[in-house]
Amino acid sequence: MKVAVIGGTGGQGLGIATRFVVAGEEVIIGSRTLEKAQAGVDKVKELQGDVKNVKAATNPDAAKEADVLIMTVPLAAQKDTLLSIKEGAAGKPLMDATGPLESCIGGSATRCLNLTEGSAAQRAQAILPDAKVICAFNNISQTWWMQLEEPIDCDCLICGDDKDAKAIVTPLIEKVPGIKVVDCGMLERASIIEKITPLLIGLNIRNKCQFGGIRITGLDKGRVCK
Ligand SMILES: NC(=O)c1ccc[n+]([C@@H]2O[C@H](COP(=O)([O-])OP(=O)(O)OC[C@H]3O[C@@H](n4cnc5c(N)ncnc54)[C@H](OP(=O)(O)O)[C@@H]3O)[C@@H](O)[C@H]2O)c1
Repeated sequence: MKVAVIGGTGGQGLGIATRFVVAGEEVIIGSRTLEKAQAGVDKVKELQGDVKNVKAATNPDAAKEADVLIMTVPLAAQKDTLLSIKEGAAGKPLMDATGPLESCIGGSATRCLNLTEGSAAQRAQAILPDAKVICAFNNISQTWWMQLEEPIDCDCLICGDDKDAKAIVTPLIEKVPGIKVVDCGMLERASIIEKITPLLIGLNIRNKCQFGGIRITGLDKGRVCK
């Protein structure tokens, strides 16, 4: 499957891109400039050797070529970036990792902004109604993605309105060792999933670590009360 990471040159995007390269997927690292995207590819090759399954493109070209898209840009860049990939994103699963953190407007990364649409993922869906937006990757830190020798000890909470799109991305995400996908339902659930991120950032600060994550348990235990 061809996976484009839109804004794939930052900490989160490059980490996700590298993990999917290791998993054997065809990865396109997207950027506003081809030069910066190529620098991202060079970084992946520095880590993984001269692998053939990663290439560079501008964000619009990456979106057009890929089967599924991953958005990893700050909230302030979300709208412009989405509009730049409008054509390529139409009809495709688009996993949005955007965190509506207060730090985007000069505040704290341990607080969440209340967006009119309800969440950053719902905002993405409103900007690109033809894309199949899925909230994903919000609760897994860039440190985990780049810890390449270790499986990622986190669940990936996802939500979205298109069942078929979620069925496409679930086995893809689970190709990354350690990650279990938990489908939390419709896209409106993103407002809850996105709020877990500032909680985890706060826990990382309190515990002087960078690996805070979340696991949901008990979902396969059945019911005790009928
Ligand atoms: N970092 C984490 O651990 C983590 C965890 C969970 C969720 N997230 C979310 O994932 C997203 C990306 O996080 P990050 O830490 O990777 O962000 P980042 O490094 O600050 O930015 C990622 C990329 O976005 C593009 N970008 C940055 N500012 C832009 C602007 N003003 N206009 C257009 N494009 C811009 C840049 O790509 P080009 O310059 O190459 O175009 C940049 O390399 C955020 O929404 C964050 O909340 C991050």
